[in-house]
Amino acid sequence: MEIDKKTARKIDRELQSLRERIGADRKTLNEVFDKPTLLAFGKLISDRILKFIDFPISTGKEANVFRAVTPDDRIVAVKVYRIATSNFNRMIYYIRGDPRFAPIGRSKREIINQWVKKELKNLERLQEIEVPAPKPIRALQNILVMEYIGDHNYPAPLLKDIEMKDPERICNEIIGYIKKMYIEGDIIHSDLSEYNILFYKNRPYLIDLAQGVVSEHPFAFDFLKRDIENVVKFFRRHGVIYNAREIFRELIA
Ligand SMILES: Nc1ncnc2c1ncn2[C@@H]1O[C@H](COP(=O)(O)OP(=O)(O)OP(=O)(O)O)[C@@H](O)[C@H]1O
Ligand SMILES: [Mg+2]
Repeated sequence: MEIDKKTARKIDRELQSLRERIGADRKTLNEVFDKPTLLAFGKLISDRILKFIDFPISTGKEANVFRAVTPDDRIVAVKVYRIATSNFNRMIYYIRGDPRFAPIGRSKREIINQWVKKELKNLERLQEIEVPAPKPIRALQNILVMEYIGDHNYPAPLLKDIEMKDPERICNEIIGYIKKMYIEGDIIHSDLSEYNILFYKNRPYLIDLAQGVVSEHPFAFDFLKRDIENVVKFFRRHGVIYNAREIFRELIA
């Protein structure tokens, strides 16, 4: 992918001002924004998907999430997987066995590209069946652009960090999402927990969907069971008592 001088200068300026705004050290920024990633950002800017990156929302084990602004001044979320710190064996484990993806090569970039495409496809499917989650906007290499969930001041909090007035209602809603995803969407989140659910406008939103698999995946039932167990365990601490095994059995019956 080629990038013109003007865009390159623009990105340089962006990065410099990002550094100043967030005070991030050069090493961190260089780790996220390596050359191919910068080129991809250049393309997103010239395709008018993004105007600039606002500030970081989160630094995870494998990805950084930023708030960004589009040319028409809407706020979006941008998730950037870092090549340097991604766990490729784990990614392969979830990609292989998913019939939506052809067997993939072993290059790290190729695996990450598939991983990001998988997150995009899973988010699309959630949109189709109307399970609340960020609307995906564009996947390009190691970058996923999606709807931002939150208000102008703050991104929506994680479920683990909120005070719940009505935990039973929220629990039922999330179990409802799991069922709907399995029955109508043929999809299993596979990394569901209070760490991957945002709470916004009084509703849970599912995020972090790259691990999601279709039910044909050889370990689909294990993932489904684990998702249900995580949710049941979390809500048990908030006084909502459900039996994970029962929910699982009923669902796959
Ligand atoms: N669309 C979004 N809108 C607002 N905030 C978001 C959005 N997506 C992610 N976030 C924030 O960024 C954090 C990290 O996102 P996510 O869970 O997708 O990645 P991650 O856990 O860092 O991924 P990994 O663990 O694989 O590195 C979330 O906990 C949430 O706070
Ligand atoms: Mg996460």
